[in-house]
Amino acid sequence: KIYPVILSGGSGTRLWPLSRAALPKQLLALVSDRTMLQETALRLSGIPGMMAPLMVCGNDHRFMIAEQMREIGIVPMGIMLEPEGRNTAPAVAAAAHYLMATEPDAVMLVLPADHVINDVPAFHAAIARASSAVAAGALATFGIVPSGPETGYGYIRRGEAVPASDGCFSVARFVEKPDLATAQSFIDDGSYLWNSGMFLFSAARYLEELASLRPDIAACAKKAVSDGYRDLDFCRLHEASFAACPSESIDYAVMEHTRHAVVVPADIGWSDVGSWSALWEVQQSDAQGNVLRGDVYTDEVSNSLIRAESRMVAVIGVSDVVVVETNDAVLVVHKDQVQKVKQVVDHLKKLK
Ligand code: GDD
Ligand code: MG
Repeated sequence: KIYPVILSGGSGTRLWPLSRAALPKQLLALVSDRTMLQETALRLSGIPGMMAPLMVCGNDHRFMIAEQMREIGIVPMGIMLEPEGRNTAPAVAAAAHYLMATEPDAVMLVLPADHVINDVPAFHAAIARASSAVAAGALATFGIVPSGPETGYGYIRRGEAVPASDGCFSVARFVEKPDLATAQSFIDDGSYLWNSGMFLFSAARYLEELASLRPDIAACAKKAVSDGYRDLDFCRLHEASFAACPSESIDYAVMEHTRHAVVVPADIGWSDVGSWSALWEVQQSDAQGNVLRGDVYTDEVSNSLIRAESRMVAVIGVSDVVVVETNDAVLVVHKDQVQKVKQVVDHLKKLK
């Protein structure tokens, strides 16, 4: 049995003005008619032994998440509510404790709620490959062949093949979010993969590693679950215990330091849709290379993403642009500069 744990705590700032704190990207229908969260849950169907998902999210999103699951006919195993986000290491630890209460041997598949995976059969095959190493106690990551020196990802140096587990390699080194020069050296080296941010391991093994590497996080997360309580169908983590938890990602807290990681190279059409240009890339474009959504008129426009949410948008004679119209904000940005959208959100926060 595999228990999917879907992390839905992010508040995507790079897809402003569509993605907002109140409506982050995982809750939006960005690439299909379904939201990214719904796609995440649906692409698990057909994997042998896959159980209903456990969702971990912030309090504010609980009803939206419950409703989105209801829409696609999936009944989650539970929805765990964080009083405030403490990043992924505590969230995964809380989920591990929750699962182990009913299933001490639970294997968990940790999934971000906001990724695109275009080759679902290859994704399923990668999980199957990781399973045997996980049964032997490994913490499995899924590695993506990098396309450039991105600094927003973890980098995994592939080590030796794991003898008894076909398609699994030891992790010789894990470096979370290197600087540009280091990332470039990893690309030049050729033996590094991007960490996809998905993990497969037994709940007990994760907690064991966390307890030895970050006993502070392990203790707070454990207390937040044991002192937590049920509220309707939700499982609320204990406020004070969880607030006391250091805010740290699983990558920095565990994956960079554990000696038991393995990597499964996975060619699965993966993108974490971290920017408007990434969203343009993962979508089917028309003959001019445009991705158009909503009421849009174009003339002599190419390689652009144009999205009209509430009004008609006309674009003439420009290329390589992103135009996103919503009812209270409009973004126009060159496709090469989409990383700067984050600064708009920072600017808006200052105004408040
Ligand atoms: N429940 C919950 N609570 N979820 C969270 C929290 C939290 O406090 N913080 C983040 N998440 C969710 C996000 O919504 C996202 O789905 C996932 O956990 C990963 O968090 P990000 O904040 O998006 O991480 P990242 O993109 O900087 O880095 C991670 O992903 C990269 C690939 O996309 C790392 O794992 C990198 O190593 C990896 O390359
Ligand atoms: Mg991310």
